[in-house]
Amino acid sequence: MTKLKIGIIGGSGLNKLDILENKSIKDVTTPFGKPSESLVTGTINNVECVILVRHGTKHTIMPSSVNYRANIFALKEEGCTHILATTACGSLQEHIAPGDIVILDQFIDRTTKRIQTFYDGSDGAPKGVCHMAMHTPFCTKLSKILTETSTKLGFKTHSTGTVVTIEGPRFSSTAESKMFQLWGGHVINMTTVPEVVLAKEAGISYASMALVTDYDSWREGEEGVSVDVVLKIFKENAKKAETVLKNVISEIASHNWTELIQHNKEAVMNSVLSYT
Ligand code: ADE
Repeated sequence: MTKLKIGIIGGSGLNKLDILENKSIKDVTTPFGKPSESLVTGTINNVECVILVRHGTKHTIMPSSVNYRANIFALKEEGCTHILATTACGSLQEHIAPGDIVILDQFIDRTTKRIQTFYDGSDGAPKGVCHMAMHTPFCTKLSKILTETSTKLGFKTHSTGTVVTIEGPRFSSTAESKMFQLWGGHVINMTTVPEVVLAKEAGISYASMALVTDYDSWREGEEGVSVDVVLKIFKENAKKAETVLKNVISEIASHNWTELIQHNKEAVMNSVLSYT
């Protein structure tokens, strides 16, 4: 069986992820610059893991300024075969309530300022142009394991969900929020794109656990999302995410991933166009 290493990307509210044993801190840099924070390597139930805090431990990096390429490249260099991402999100649907967990399976990209590829022709970048297929952005097998673990632990978990990723850092107007509902969005955040896209280009199996903090700005008679609203539920959500992460790692490690890892690798190779 191929050796696994699991990268964990902690989102807003998950900057103090203290779930690793045998911890050590590793300062790294990449051809795309420095990742958001030092990597924290260690084990969970004897499985090798690497934690990276997306916005920095002091939450100083806004969504547009996160160096997504450096983050994914650093995890790839570290040998990560899988990434479990956590992200705070708003709900665009009545039946998805604050405190719920949504395992994302599709995205709608409303970002405007982010580089979405490693293959950009710059010095040190891999050669060619990469046109990754994006019909299945998230790893189905990993997402299923996440859903089953989270549900078994008693958390209200939605097994699928389309996330609308906005540029931010502002929240959406009511008109925008209602439009995203009409488009079929279930939840809304500021970071899944380009993170999931770059993970796919890197050949890493990526799944995302979205933790609902608010009802965004579409609900009649309510003021809509603000930092105040989001902060109220952060701690509770963080505890849930930590519990799921601690429990899901050994479950992931009990599966054979050899074929899937090979498939991911081939999918990338087959997506690069380059004439020599
Ligand atoms: N993160 C948490 N809640 C959000 C919302 N309503 N919109 C965008 N990002 C969010």
